[in-house]
Amino acid sequence: MDKRITLKIAKIEDEAKDIKTFTFKHKLDAKPGQFIMLTDFEGGEKPFSISDCTKEEFSITVKRIGEFTSRLFQKCVGDYVSIRGAYGSSFFISKNKVLLVGGGYAVPTFYFFAKVLLEAGADITLINGARTKAEHIFADRFNELDIKAINATDDGSFGEKGTAVDVAERILANQLVSKLQPNKLVSKPQLGDTKHFQAGAWKRENKKKFDFVYASGPEMMMKTLQPLLKGVDYEFLFERYMKCAIGICGNCTMDPLGIRLCVEGPVLPKKLMEQLTEFGKYHRDAAGKRVKY
Ligand SMILES: Cc1cc2nc3c(=O)[nH]c(=O)nc-3n(C[C@H](O)[C@H](O)[C@H](O)COP(=O)(O)OP(=O)(O)OC[C@H]3O[C@@H](n4cnc5c(N)ncnc54)[C@H](O)[C@@H]3O)c2cc1C
Ligand code: FES
Repeated sequence: MDKRITLKIAKIEDEAKDIKTFTFKHKLDAKPGQFIMLTDFEGGEKPFSISDCTKEEFSITVKRIGEFTSRLFQKCVGDYVSIRGAYGSSFFISKNKVLLVGGGYAVPTFYFFAKVLLEAGADITLINGARTKAEHIFADRFNELDIKAINATDDGSFGEKGTAVDVAERILANQLVSKLQPNKLVSKPQLGDTKHFQAGAWKRENKKKFDFVYASGPEMMMKTLQPLLKGVDYEFLFERYMKCAIGICGNCTMDPLGIRLCVEGPVLPKKLMEQLTEFGKYHRDAAGKRVKY
């Protein structure tokens, strides 16, 4: 078992009604996309992605869902928890033009990632999606970074109307769409003379295509996104039920390759994604039993 560290909660920030960011003053050796296992000593240990990480501190952003996260929400600054990690694979660091597609409480991991991508010199467009304005998080934090951040909500209450994938579809289509240039007047018109018009033409927009697309969000969001990414390289971050997080229990394996999401994932590349038959069809519960989406 890996080394466990007991840490004091240094800061707690409210992001939305049921979402909080917990910060710890500890130098965590972590890469974007990786996660930690956290326990409050009262039962259970749960995985959380790293939403920020500097030389002095790191943060996780948590959505209150069930028993464990509800207990975590009762903690105060100065209370202790215990962590191990960071674990798992991390995102490929592209230096080029990239699109980040995020949904819900899985978006914050892109904050840490965007900062690392910016240092590498990447040109970043981020789609930050949520169901409603009340559930939308991290807009202000992303605004402080030198990236193109597009906010979206399913009901249109904040930013673009539509899911993060709806917005991604528009953006990805736009970079390939040809535009009709209107007929251009090139000389003074004479009656019955058409030579003064230069014919209109379909012109390909001179927009550089995205070199890489990254997604972090509900599995069905990524399943809907995948068919839009033909010809583009991509990586997806998975959140499946994890217990040991070190590749022993087998609870997080994916068919038919048997890859363990806690070791070979949670970030999976396109090459592996194309071979996974269970993606978007079923996942496993705490007992390892298959549960259909
Ligand atoms: C790699 C990874 C990164 C994650 N990052 C975050 C994050 O940054 N923020 C966040 O809020 N949540 C994150 N999660 C999910 C988080 O671990 C669960 O929401 C949390 O464990 C719920 O616990 P609970 O007792 O409150 O809810 P429960 O009532 O026990 O469970 C509610 C739902 O949470 C999920 N869940 C429960 N236990 C686990 C577990 N051990 N592993 C994975 N999923 C579980 C299941 O889908 C379950 O149906 C991540 C999960 C994984 C695998
Ligand atoms: S959680 Fe045990 S093998 Fe992945």
